[in-house]
Amino acid sequence: MTQDEMKKAAGWAALKYIEKDSIVGVGTGSTVNHFIDALGTIKDDIKGAVSSSIASTEKLEALGIEVFDCNDVAYLDVYVDGADEINPSRDMIKGGGAALTREKIVAAISNKFVCIVDGTKAVDVLGQFPLPVEVIPMARSYVARELVKLGGDPVYREGVITDNGNVILDVHGMQITDAKDMEDKINALAGVVTVGLFAHRGADVIITGTPEGAKIEE
Ligand code: 5RP
Repeated sequence: MTQDEMKKAAGWAALKYIEKDSIVGVGTGSTVNHFIDALGTIKDDIKGAVSSSIASTEKLEALGIEVFDCNDVAYLDVYVDGADEINPSRDMIKGGGAALTREKIVAAISNKFVCIVDGTKAVDVLGQFPLPVEVIPMARSYVARELVKLGGDPVYREGVITDNGNVILDVHGMQITDAKDMEDKINALAGVVTVGLFAHRGADVIITGTPEGAKIEE
């Protein structure tokens, strides 16, 4: 089974968490794209979606799923999104697709975070995957210097502007043993919009695509 087939198994299995007539929180990425395809098959049973990126919004709308403004929705029952890494405490690194800030906002208004991944995303210690940090452009160099003080090696993601008009620093060489503490420290730096550590709001359910099918941990 290919990695994409495992992503597909995870994405389709997430349909089980979608309630009738609900508005669904939708993340971003190649695994979520499979979930959106699945959501398209039940589009008449849901009210619509709140989306975490322009890319996901376009895909949802192309399938005829109404996308609501996050400001018009008080809460969501379920948010479905992928991750770049997830540890046994269900802390995640996200932002490989540069959508981390909007993802964090949609996750924040959601009662349940359903994380859909293939088996390659599970790690014991976060940080092998470079940690994305969304930064206001004028703060890029300052934040990079501060990230070095925190033990990382930040690399400017050339040619990428986020949906919010900002830039991304990918922090290499981190071994994140206290994810909540690191999330707080990086978020406290002036000019940081958000860090792609999802520890204060981690996953509630993990659906892992495996060669044997989707494995669900609640
Ligand atoms: C985008 C994300 C994605 O969830 C993460 O990068 C995983 O992507 P994929 O499903 O393509 O492996 O955080 O900002």
